[in-house]
Amino acid sequence: MALAGLENNDLKLIIFGGKGGVGKTSCAIATALALSENFKTLLISTDPAHSVSDCLEQKIGYHVVKVDGTTNISAIEVVADEAIAGFIIEHHAELKKLLETSTNLDNEDIEEMLTLSIPGIDEVMSFKTIIDFIEEGQYDKYVVDTAPTGHALRLISSPKLLDEWIKVAARMRWKYRYMITSFSGSYHQDEVDALLLSLKRTVKRIETILQDSTRCEFIPVCIPESMAILETGRLLAELGTSGIFSKQIIVNNVMASDGCDFCKSRKAGQLPYLQELHDKYSKFNSVEVPMFAEEIKGLKALHKLKMVLFG
Ligand SMILES: Nc1ncnc2c1ncn2[C@@H]1O[C@H](COP(=O)(O)OP(=O)(O)OP(=O)(O)O)[C@@H](O)[C@H]1O
Ligand SMILES: [Mg+2]
Repeated sequence: MALAGLENNDLKLIIFGGKGGVGKTSCAIATALALSENFKTLLISTDPAHSVSDCLEQKIGYHVVKVDGTTNISAIEVVADEAIAGFIIEHHAELKKLLETSTNLDNEDIEEMLTLSIPGIDEVMSFKTIIDFIEEGQYDKYVVDTAPTGHALRLISSPKLLDEWIKVAARMRWKYRYMITSFSGSYHQDEVDALLLSLKRTVKRIETILQDSTRCEFIPVCIPESMAILETGRLLAELGTSGIFSKQIIVNNVMASDGCDFCKSRKAGQLPYLQELHDKYSKFNSVEVPMFAEEIKGLKALHKLKMVLFG
């Protein structure tokens, strides 16, 4: 079988995730290559390991660049650290005021608190960058390569985490508002309220697109090995809880049945896991990718993978 439905005009955001080393980056780039034949495509890496750069043999950084040797693909790295540093610098005053008006902390403690991360904020800020791109609408397709499962899970659960934090902050503010109103008779929204509101809106924007099965699809990449299957299970469970659509799975590194004794023996070892994946994900469109003799690096190899993924 081949990957299906990705050419649907409404589908904008395609996210690849899975255990470390299973082929997420290769599959994401090969998918961008396939889509770029008919669509203007932005390839987005959220992996700080710069693997898209390595695989394409071209420097991809924090600014959009055209991918050499392609006509319709641009690429960018959207890494949480960079996004969050910008957020803290930009909103230092509001975050400080939130703590000053809602806690008994002294200035030193407040500054220390401000160096701590707000749960989920790093990933939400990366997502915000992605959603901003989608809403700007310069591209038809946005293909996202994520770092290994732990990161994808954090990415997916980040809107929920940040939403919890916003609720606590809003409760703290409510007490402050009540106090001000009791003393002065009225309360006017300030920059802290505005920040909380804008964060709430950002969470909503992210959740809206992630949970819209016509606009967003998550494609797990797995290999026929026990740990990868366990991680895929956890990933798909979290996708289900978060309401993110997933209906096809890539099973990579499948050995050929013929060939040398080593290959045959590896294939025999894979068979129970292939069966397990088949049984577990019988409702999924499952796409098997053979283990190639050479690594997938550079456009020529990526085109070969594209042919397998898309037929
Ligand atoms: N079907 C395949 N045949 C041969 N080599 C492959 C295949 N799929 C992936 N590889 C190779 O395996 C390595 C890992 O692939 P890739 O970087 O795409 O995985 P990843 O899941 O993105 O890894 P990471 O978790 O480190 O981001 C790379 O060297 C790649 O060239
Ligand atoms: Mg990768």
